[in-house]
Parts: sequence; structure tokens; C-alpha cells
Amino acid sequence: MTHTRIKELLNSTDYGIDITLKGWIKTFRNNQFLAINDGSCLSNIQVVVDFENTDERLLKRLTTGAAVSINGTLVESLGKGQRIEVKAKEIAVLGDSDPERFPLQPKKHSLEFLREIAHLRFRTNTFNAVFKVRNALAFAIHKFFNEKGFVYLHTPIITGSDAEGAGEMFKVTTLDFENLPRNEDGLIDYKEDFFGKQTNLTVSGQLEGELAAMALGNIYTFGPTFRAENSNTTRHLAEFWMVEPEMAFYDLHDNMDLAEELLKYVIRYALDNCSEEIEFLKNRLTEEEKSKPQNERSALDLIDKLNFCLEHDFERITYSEAIEILKRSKPNQKKQFKYVIDEWGTDLQSEHERYLVEKHFKKPVILTDYPANIKAFYMRMNEPDEYGRKTVRAMDILFPGIGEIVGGSQREERYDRLIARMEEMHIPVDEMSWFLDTRRFGSAPHAGFGLGFERLVLFVTGMTNIRDVIPFPRTPKSAAF
Ligand code: 4AD
Ligand code: MG
Repeated sequence: MTHTRIKELLNSTDYGIDITLKGWIKTFRNNQFLAINDGSCLSNIQVVVDFENTDERLLKRLTTGAAVSINGTLVESLGKGQRIEVKAKEIAVLGDSDPERFPLQPKKHSLEFLREIAHLRFRTNTFNAVFKVRNALAFAIHKFFNEKGFVYLHTPIITGSDAEGAGEMFKVTTLDFENLPRNEDGLIDYKEDFFGKQTNLTVSGQLEGELAAMALGNIYTFGPTFRAENSNTTRHLAEFWMVEPEMAFYDLHDNMDLAEELLKYVIRYALDNCSEEIEFLKNRLTEEEKSKPQNERSALDLIDKLNFCLEHDFERITYSEAIEILKRSKPNQKKQFKYVIDEWGTDLQSEHERYLVEKHFKKPVILTDYPANIKAFYMRMNEPDEYGRKTVRAMDILFPGIGEIVGGSQREERYDRLIARMEEMHIPVDEMSWFLDTRRFGSAPHAGFGLGFERLVLFVTGMTNIRDVIPFPRTPKSAAF
């Protein structure tokens, strides 16, 4: 190794040794004190420059953002604020940074501004912390499933089917838009297209996951998924990462238990392994909340909120029970909800989900047994309830400040029931023959769920906009970089 990373230097007690460090200049005070960061941790290391014996031209090049390589001696710091610092012997500028043009100044920038320079926002403390936590959560997800003997399955990005049946897909084609091949009926002839048929970016790896689960037992996917839904909210991305476990011989209860265990495991992992970052993000959030009116501030700080989630069982209730609670709720009675709940069967809006989680139960909630006609075709049908209402074996996990973080279900494993449902919902049965084979040959009860990875990162980092927890966000009318 030609240099030592700053995290290691800051933990060192080897006073007097000579070291080389490399990094980017955060600040340069009084022509004497450099603060250098190399991304290895949030803290900078202080480098003391002997300005009287340093070339004037070199001093001028020590500007915010410049990349430098420094040889020096590790010494105990005399100044306040740090235990250790480096006495520079030799400084080389590896890459200059024009102070007139470098967009990041050593001051607080708005998250909106930083989003426009997403290639540079990695250099800020906030995004350093966010992406370290994101990394830890991704690692923890693999660790969790690996310890349980699940097989990590790579499902395709380009597919020929619509897993959710919602039609929110990006088309994949190499056809020339200026000169589209047509068949006799004048329709676009996809036989001429790259794959000889219509294809799209996947909205979910679930269907392929089900095939593997019906042979390997327990599998999970963790990959990018794409939704062409025009939702310009702080919770939606057009490209997001999803974790989708699928388990043979699991029913809905086993499914909920696994999801709750996974969420608690990965949150604990982040708390244990990213304490510096989460402490920083906690203070950031507390600071941000000061600008809000008292009644909108959260009662718990970020770390308390995460611990609270670990210490309590998630509330489990049915959709029908939730509707009764919502109907009786104050904001519904006073018509303060934008969408007033007056009948069974309507889909819940995020205002309703947040009421249940943040006001009524004050903890994560798992809602089960949703009306069949607001859920996907593959969910297992319940027997009609006492009022003859049709529900499916669905479960959504709702989190404070987030709303839906997990969506899953027990799957409809009964061939005839599934076919009937697909026909009812206009899902092309012929094209799905490969999927239906799981129900033709040795069908078995099974279940699974999808965890929205960015929504998890949002929760753990306390950030408020999903665009700020993914390195390069893709949203309607925005695909920069
Ligand atoms: O509820 P969804 O649509 O469920 C599925 O895709 C199932 N195939 C999952 C399964 O059972 N295997 O999506 C699952 C989760 C949601 O709960 C949410 O956290 C996240 O994915 N999600 C999004 N995250 C960011 N941006 C979007 N546009 C999202 N759509 C869903
Ligand atoms: Mg959902």
C-alpha cells in the first residue's frame, strides 16, 4: 500500500511515525491547517503545513476540493478538536480544483442543490453517511439470508412478462422509431424486434423467483426494478432496488415473521456497524426538524426511533379492521383526510397508512387480507367473509414516516383458482404458461414479499426524500448523469 487511509490514521497511536496519506481538501485555514478527507470516515484529518518553508505557488493550489498526496509525521495534536494530526513534510497536488468554479463550498448546501450535482454530492458528510449506511444495509441483507441458507437468485432485468399486471413498464426495443415494421393489420411487427417479441424492464423478479423456490426451497433476489408510474413523490423512483424472498411451504404467518425478523436484523446491523454515520444523521435530522412547527416534529430522535422499532412487535391487523379504525378516526369524522374513508374496498392512501402507524398504533403495522380487487393476480384467495366480501392473503408492512415498506402475500397455488383470477384480471394466460407450470407439476403452498430497498434506507438514515438515498435517482422527467 502506498498510503494509509485516514480512518486508520485517526485510530492510530503510533506517534512519531512517517506516513503517506491521500485525499481531498475540505478546508485550508490560515495558510497552515489543512482538513483532509479520503472518504474512509466522516472525520477529516488535520495536516499542519509549514507555510514559511513552503513554495507560495504550492500554497495557492491548496484549495477546497483539490486532491493531494501528503508525506508527513503523525504527531499528537496540540490544538483542540483532534487527538492526532500530521506534520507535513512533502505535499503534492494530484488534481487541482479551481476555487472559482468548484460548486461545493465549506458550508451547508440544500439537498435540492446537491441533487443537481449528484456526481459531487458524495463529497459531503451527509451523502458520505447515507451511502455508508446504504452499503451496510445491503451487506446485512445478504448476511441475513445467507445465514438462513437462502439462495441468492439473479432474475432477469429484461423480461417478456408483467409480474404485477399493472402495465407500468418501460419497453425494451431496438426497433427504429422512424421506420417501424408493420404486419398486414398495420400493427407494429415485434417479430422484427431484437428478441422477436415485446419485452420490457422488469417490475419485479417475483415470478421467476417462484419458479426457483419451487425447487430450491428458499430463495431471494436483490436487484434493480423499474416502474414507469408517473408518481412524482418523495417515496417513488422509476428505478429502485428490491429484495424479494420467496419460500416454499410458507404461509402468510411464516411470511410476516420472516419479514419482521429481516427488518429488525438489518436495522440492528446498521446501528451496530454505522454508529458514527447514524449519530451524524441523527443530529442532521434534529437540526432540520428545528425549522418545523413544534407539532410536526417527531417525539423521538433517529436513534430512539430505530431502537423503538427493534423493541416492539409489529402490530398485525386485517385490512377490514383497519377500515373500521379509520372510519371512526378523528380526521375521517372531521373530513380532514383528502380521501375520506366511507366504504370497505377502497385502497388506502398514504395519509391513511400514516395515521394508523403514526397516530393510532404508534409503531410499525402489518395489514393483511386486502380486498382482492385492489391486489395483484397471484395472491391466494381467502374464502369470502361473513358479508361475502372477497379478500386475498396479502400483507403490507407500514412504517412511520414511510408508509408501505414491504408488500407481499401467500401465493395462489391452486391451478384452477389462479387461472380464473388471471382471466378475470385480463392477464394473458397463454404467455404465462412457463409460470403456470409451477402449479401444474407439484404445486405447493408458498409465500414471499418485496422490500423496497430505498424505503428501508430512507427509514434508517432519517432522510425525507427517496432521491437522496440512491446515488443516481431516476424519476419522471429526470435521468441526469
Ligand atoms: O408492493 P410491490 O409492488 O410488490 C411487488 O412488486 C411484489 N412482486 C413483491 C413480492 O411479493 N415479491 O413492491 C414491493 C415494495 C413496496 O412495498 C415498496 O417498498 C417498494 O417495493 N416500491 C417502490 N420503491 C420505490 N419506488 C417505487 N416506485 C416503488 N414501488 C414499490
Ligand atoms: Mg405494494
